[in-house]
Amino acid sequence: MLREKGALTSDWMSAYRAVPRDAFVPDRLWPGTAGGNRQGEVIDRNTDPARWWGKVYSDVPLTTQWDDGAHTGTDKGRSPTSSNSMPKMVFSMLDTLCVERGNRVLEVGTGTGWNAALLAYRLGPDNVVTVEVDPAVAEEARRRLAAVGLTPVTVVGDGAQGHVKGAPYDRIIATCGISRVPYAWVEQAVEGAVIVAPWGPPYGGQAVARLTVGEGGVAMGPFVMSSAFMRLRDQRDTFPPTDAFPGAANRPSTAAQRTTPLSPDGMGDWHHMFTLGVQVPDMFCRVERGEDGAYRLWLFDMGCTSWATGDYEPGRTEFEVAEYGPRHLWSEAEAVMSWWREQGEPRFERYGLTVTPSGQTVWLDSPDNPVPVRVS
Ligand SMILES: C[S@@+](CC[C@H](N)C(=O)[O-])C[C@H]1O[C@@H](n2cnc3c(N)ncnc32)[C@H](O)[C@@H]1O
Repeated sequence: MLREKGALTSDWMSAYRAVPRDAFVPDRLWPGTAGGNRQGEVIDRNTDPARWWGKVYSDVPLTTQWDDGAHTGTDKGRSPTSSNSMPKMVFSMLDTLCVERGNRVLEVGTGTGWNAALLAYRLGPDNVVTVEVDPAVAEEARRRLAAVGLTPVTVVGDGAQGHVKGAPYDRIIATCGISRVPYAWVEQAVEGAVIVAPWGPPYGGQAVARLTVGEGGVAMGPFVMSSAFMRLRDQRDTFPPTDAFPGAANRPSTAAQRTTPLSPDGMGDWHHMFTLGVQVPDMFCRVERGEDGAYRLWLFDMGCTSWATGDYEPGRTEFEVAEYGPRHLWSEAEAVMSWWREQGEPRFERYGLTVTPSGQTVWLDSPDNPVPVRVS
């Protein structure tokens, strides 16, 4: 199945066979859906072994922890916080990492330990360092790694700091999402090193960046595939509640009203969200579902000064818009989407990222063509 999808290349085949996924999955799991974040009901190996095995050998992510371990029941918690990633994504990212014999690798986000085990099998355990922020998750991974006879260096800590004791690294792979590349990763990498990390702005949309570390501590490279990883713990987004915005609860008649041909549905795909988030970094959105497929898309600024709504109804070509506050967020989104159309409607693969000691820049097609960022 993974071979047919093009994810499992021949050089990872023996690791895949030698390091079974089932050895890294706990008895209780919550299967997700491929390409999405929705979680199914809990499956317990002890009461329903057939379904458990079926999910472990399906191409789906398996949530193994909710709410940083605070939620321990069998129902779902609020947020999934640790998982065994979707096999297609695991092997596509390992393929993107292009490891070579003798490489030293840092993995950020040990989770269940499966990815670290695959790397340790391929490169030798002494060449792999994996960092996990959650002590209980790290301990369980250590136990499972030892059980299959693979013992990479497993560190409990904040992976955003890398692990300087094991540096320098030839390859760095993050299996949690980021919106800023921690510069420690670049500092702890050799020149020519490859960094593979799922990157996405707070607004939404995420894609795997493949950066090469070059001269002068600059890392750059393209986005290579879309992704949906849970965030690095200290880069999680906390958005203000809707009632923190003046007038948002009762949508006053003083809000500027108009119609727009820009359908909220035409800015809801992963790559639209990525573009909107890159260009308006302090904007976030919420969706309020209505009936019969209708919904309201809310846009907010992080400073809690302004909001806008766009009302989607199936079959319409003009949509009601309300804007409130000093910023005109719907107009900002319209400007971004017209820029996007003018550029030929780029998907992730045309974007790239440059990281320097002073910050990061997203570009389109070439590093000398930065994507405009709208700062208010
Ligand atoms: C998608 S899971 C990783 C999957 C894992 N590689 C595997 O093979 O099962 C993401 C993990 O990143 C961890 N994490 C989040 N923030 C972190 C941080 N700052 N440093 C290290 N690990 C972090 C989470 O606790 C979680 O276990």
